[in-house]
Amino acid sequence: MLVRGDLVHCPELGKLEILQDHVVDIGYTGLIDYIGPATTPDAIEKIAASAGRLILVPKGSFLLPTFCDLHLHAPQFLYQGTGLHLPLMKWLDEYAFKAEERIDADPSLAHKVYTRLAERLIEHGTGAVLLFGTIKEETNLILAKCMMNAGIRAFVGKLSMDISSRPSYIEASAAASLTAVSSFADKCIALNNELPPGTTLVEPVLTPRFVPTCSDELLLGLGKLSKAKNLRVQSHMAEAYDQVEWVRAERGVEDMEVFERSGLLTPRTVQAHCTFLDPPSLSHVAKRGTAVAHCPLSNAYFSAEPFRLREALNNGVKVGLGTDIAGGYHIDILSSMRQAVAVSRMREGARIMGKAAQSHTKADGDDKSVLSIDWTEALYLATRGGALALGLTNGVGTFMKGASFDAQCSKHPID
Ligand code: GUN
Ligand code: FE
Repeated sequence: MLVRGDLVHCPELGKLEILQDHVVDIGYTGLIDYIGPATTPDAIEKIAASAGRLILVPKGSFLLPTFCDLHLHAPQFLYQGTGLHLPLMKWLDEYAFKAEERIDADPSLAHKVYTRLAERLIEHGTGAVLLFGTIKEETNLILAKCMMNAGIRAFVGKLSMDISSRPSYIEASAAASLTAVSSFADKCIALNNELPPGTTLVEPVLTPRFVPTCSDELLLGLGKLSKAKNLRVQSHMAEAYDQVEWVRAERGVEDMEVFERSGLLTPRTVQAHCTFLDPPSLSHVAKRGTAVAHCPLSNAYFSAEPFRLREALNNGVKVGLGTDIAGGYHIDILSSMRQAVAVSRMREGARIMGKAAQSHTKADGDDKSVLSIDWTEALYLATRGGALALGLTNGVGTFMKGASFDAQCSKHPID
């Protein structure tokens, strides 16, 4: 397939490239074999030989890499936007666990909700997604299949939780939980056998829900499993006041310490939120190669503190954006981009005001420690940043030779 038109991407943080009137040649496995300006001799030759396989991007539109949603609870799509008046731990008890249990009990409901979720993700330009599922294997396989059938690159997490406030929504023991997640991982990987050879769309992710729902034995077991089978990991870390206090009271340490000693801070790990991490902790996260899913809308409801985004980026932490459905109420990563910019600007405003108050002079706001990000940085986080957080180093999230052609069009043609 040959595509001709204007392309926009962010190959690096803060670097926006506009590739005007370019030609992209896409091989049968979906990788970009060639990319270059339409006026070069190679491109002209390709266009001349392209009978029937040339797609023109309509004038006035442009292609962007698809978005990556780095944190989304698939079963919570059922009740997104509900109950956000509660603090996190109560909200989980009263809404999240119930909805997830309901989906685990009803495969046809799971199929309906997950098919609709895949449709909505595509409508909003999301091409890759890191998902939290539910406890039950069958429901998570339905989720993986619905995403795969829609052509979405999905990283699917069967929840591991051997502690729960809800006696009917829990795994029997750490050992049973570890056996179950191994089985799910094998079956999830096997789903890709239905795709053309050499293509992978769905992958399993070890998903200890968060420290309060996982025994030390389970966390240690998951750390070993991740290492032995080279499996990805995701969880929530340092998210909310009530959660951080719960971990201190019950385990006597900070979240990060629990993940650290369980071998779960790895280069294959994505931790959601991390709002309570100070710069030295962020630097430790960077040292481990662990990535952060920044979910600014959810933080506004549950965290009571903004994520230190600029400090994380300056420390070399890999960061992408997440919607955190249903802790966030919108499926649209473009909204997460706007929220990330807005929150960072409030942080920068507070910094300037603080400086001015200290020095009794007017702060100029243009020194090197600016905390705000702009829209090009937000676009990077939503595309390449998310892909790198997932360890997709083969150019995903950009338009370059060898990258998978994961693209969306800025505007649909009128006719
Ligand atoms: N921490 C543990 N589970 C959840 C969840 O479902 N949503 C959010 N936002 N935080 C969590
Ligand atoms: Fe979450």
